[in-house]
Amino acid sequence: MYGTHFGLQELPFTITPDTSFFFAHSSHQEALNTLLVAVRSGEGFMKVIGEVGTGKTLLCRKFLGALDHREFVTAYIPNPYLQPMTLLLAIADELDIQYPQHINQHQLLKLLNRYLIDSYAEGKRVLLCLDESQAIPIETLESLRLLSNLETERRKLVQVVLFGQPELNERLENPSIRQLKQRISFACRLLPLSLSEVEFYISHRLAVAGYRGARLFPHRVVKRIYRTSNGIPRLVNILAHKSLMAAFGEGARVVSERHVRMAVEDTESTQGALTVKARIKRYLTALVSALAPISVLPLINSGTTLITGGPV
Ligand SMILES: Nc1ncnc2c1ncn2[C@@H]1O[C@H](COP(=O)(O)OP(=O)(O)O)[C@@H](O)[C@H]1O
Ligand SMILES: [Mg+2]
Repeated sequence: MYGTHFGLQELPFTITPDTSFFFAHSSHQEALNTLLVAVRSGEGFMKVIGEVGTGKTLLCRKFLGALDHREFVTAYIPNPYLQPMTLLLAIADELDIQYPQHINQHQLLKLLNRYLIDSYAEGKRVLLCLDESQAIPIETLESLRLLSNLETERRKLVQVVLFGQPELNERLENPSIRQLKQRISFACRLLPLSLSEVEFYISHRLAVAGYRGARLFPHRVVKRIYRTSNGIPRLVNILAHKSLMAAFGEGARVVSERHVRMAVEDTESTQGALTVKARIKRYLTALVSALAPISVLPLINSGTTLITGGPV
């Protein structure tokens, strides 16, 4: 890989939501602050909306990491596409609540309620974070509301943050869960990065990965990445990663617009991606030239390793 070539200690643009790379751009920082204030003021339900790849999972991890665990007991549910009973079981597991093997929903709710009361008595707040909330079935959302019914005069005994794509808002419009919708008192939205944020974002991630050299992504290159990714961080990562691979393939020290173009062509869901047919054609052309011994070098230089890029 290109790590050594560019003097990096680790890969700067992986697509896993690693909090050590967190970049506090405006909408992320605002959402994080809002969540921290809302949760301390005892709000029952909060939601964070963002398009695919805008950083919801990363924000969720960052938020959980920013809480004082002497004060908060937390449960993180990554995929709540679950029936009501299964979700309650998942929450019980996350909170380390012991329950008998054969338990019905009523008994489980009683156990959970007891846990919430005990936690309150110990001065702890219980917080549930549900990622991918746009996928929660309506009946399951309703059972979450029932769980959150328990409250003291001063505050809720359980607090819930829903992280989801914009479809979550449509789901919450369903009349059968209007009570839940009314309870969401705090909402924030994650926005794509602006051009200057993409610029800072790229250099921030490079710096975290240990890059100390001269500018690797010139302004016009950043501009191209911004235009084709629409400022969506996951797409920025994919394009930046593939551009570095293309530059490395040519032994270049700086990423050029052409490298980005190659990355874009290889990346579905960006503006400018090649069709499958065009990709196959490109692949075959590369293969043919690879088989001709004299043209091995141009093949390496043309960055054809990008053709097998992973899914977006
Ligand atoms: N504020 C940010 N700082 C650093 N990296 C970010 C930021 N927002 C998103 N990313 C990166 O973008 C990618 C997608 O983020 P993710 O949280 O998985 O998005 P979502 O859950 O909204 O689909 C991850 O690699 C993540 O690290
Ligand atoms: Mg996610």
